Amino acid sequence: MSHYPALRLRRTRSAPWSRRMHAETVLTPADLIWPLFVTDGDAEEPVGALPGVSRWPVRQIAERAKEAAALGIPCVALFPNTPHALRSDDGREAFNPDNLMCRAIRAIKDTGADVGVLTDVALDPYTSHGHDGLVDAAGYVLNDETAEVLARQALVQAEAGSDIVAPSDMMDGRIGLIREALEEEGHVNVQIMAYSAKYASAFYGPFRDAVGSRGLLKGDKKTYQMDPANSEEALREVALDIEEGADSVMVKPGLPYLDIVRRVKDEFEVPVFAYQVSGEYAMIEAAAAAGVGDREALVLETLMAFKRAGCSGVLTYHAPLAAKLLGA
Ligand code: PBG
Repeated sequence: MSHYPALRLRRTRSAPWSRRMHAETVLTPADLIWPLFVTDGDAEEPVGALPGVSRWPVRQIAERAKEAAALGIPCVALFPNTPHALRSDDGREAFNPDNLMCRAIRAIKDTGADVGVLTDVALDPYTSHGHDGLVDAAGYVLNDETAEVLARQALVQAEAGSDIVAPSDMMDGRIGLIREALEEEGHVNVQIMAYSAKYASAFYGPFRDAVGSRGLLKGDKKTYQMDPANSEEALREVALDIEEGADSVMVKPGLPYLDIVRRVKDEFEVPVFAYQVSGEYAMIEAAAAAGVGDREALVLETLMAFKRAGCSGVLTYHAPLAAKLLGA
């Protein structure tokens, strides 16, 4: 009797039931966080750079949140397109308790739907220069002054009902300041998901269109967001954010940074999320439109890759499509 080959790994792949039985990783709607853009206008505004994605008026945002809940998506992430007249050098609209973000949070929380609201903490949708923080005369983004303002912004969001504040600014020390501010004001159960390893990436372009900051941005964000060349530095960022009180950490962008997800997951016992960002979404849509690949297959394969790399969940504009495909 021949024993060649001695092992046949194709055996367990030979039928659908067996492939299902041997799957090491599962993807479910509970793995998805759906980013939603909010507009001050009164009608849906499709975002040209992101086919299939719109900005929603506050009165329709609650519908999206209920849709998420019905699809089994546990959480939505909110991003406001602040009217340009309300943007300023110091971004003070960020801590107006009646700003677009806070009105959207309240509209969702008022529905009573079982869905979490995650809110971005950073100044870029509120500043006239498009940076995530306060800038000095030379255009440098000031760290400590910005962190103070972010703590104020996070507090205003928590007061409006945010369940998870997610600082996406990359200032040093801001997680500790925000945690302290939340504790002092009694928001002990408001979580912090830290954008810990956020890279200065070319994949954010369509997002900047969606929140209206692309034309405003002066220069780039390389003095605060990370260099794509680095990975040890990501571990140091994550270590600091955990020490300062982050409940979960994020790696961003997604697919080109799965090595970072894996390193973080192996190193720390903490929930790790990734953001499949706007440019990644746009690439999949462009590939599908060009007939290069099947949209649904591309979406499910990329999302599974995040899970395999160690993610607890993924922020993705494809969340509603993926949830439908996964048969919620
Ligand atoms: C801003 C922020 C950005 C994204 C999320 N929060 C853009 C940036 O840093 O310029 C990008 C998300 C995406 O591209 O989908 N603080």
